[in-house]
Amino acid sequence: MRKKIVAGNWKMNKTFEEAQALVSEVVNMVQDEVNNQAEVVLCPPFPFLSSVSKALGGNSNIHLGAQNCHQKESGAYTGEVSAAMLKSVGVEYVILGHSERRQYFNEDNQLLETKVKAALQAGLIPIFCIGESLEQREQDLTFDVIETQLKEGLFHVTNEEFARVVIAYEPIWAIGTGKTATSQQAQEVHAFIREQIARHYDAEAAANTTILYGGSANPGNARELFSQPDIDGGLIGGASLKSRDFTDIIKSF
Ligand code: G3P
Repeated sequence: MRKKIVAGNWKMNKTFEEAQALVSEVVNMVQDEVNNQAEVVLCPPFPFLSSVSKALGGNSNIHLGAQNCHQKESGAYTGEVSAAMLKSVGVEYVILGHSERRQYFNEDNQLLETKVKAALQAGLIPIFCIGESLEQREQDLTFDVIETQLKEGLFHVTNEEFARVVIAYEPIWAIGTGKTATSQQAQEVHAFIREQIARHYDAEAAANTTILYGGSANPGNARELFSQPDIDGGLIGGASLKSRDFTDIIKSF
């Protein structure tokens, strides 16, 4: 189902006390200022998932997400976290294929195919990240890169499974740089993604898929980005660490 979503990817930030303070501020601000413009997802680091889940209580509009999961259900994988473990502490969403994991942890489309399957089998909603580098964009390879990432990392799932997937377009050159894609650049790629979904699955799947934009989104540019026909919200990094900025982005629909 095509939802408006604003997800906060906290990345590797905050201590326990800082995480508790942030989630409490966001809950209060969203409660006071936001009348369900969008579904909100908070994606803290693994150590804080349980405490943030408790802090969210039964909040119907703020959901819990994780930043990654292992592709196996369990076993001798020191330091790893399975999708089932995430589900067991109240996690609903899981970010997969973030460019930082592709870059620093060598996650390729073949590995991500298995992670998507594991997340779906555990009952999680994958937020599948795709996006091109500046060099690839400058070489006019953006659409080739996006098409390959979708075909090799995501399009193996069934129609029924795909209905539970969220996609995030995150141009690598816009992540953490302050160089946000223009709304036209972002819309163009989001429309291309929707076309790819229609070609591989069907028109209904394309119409119902939530496609988020990520990459230096902030309170100053969110409204224009979210006004684009094929942009259904944002996957927010730096701005999600500040409760005022994050709440202002949520209000930008
Ligand atoms: O996953 C979202 C993130 O990559 C975007 O980061 O700091 O550019 O909003 P930022």
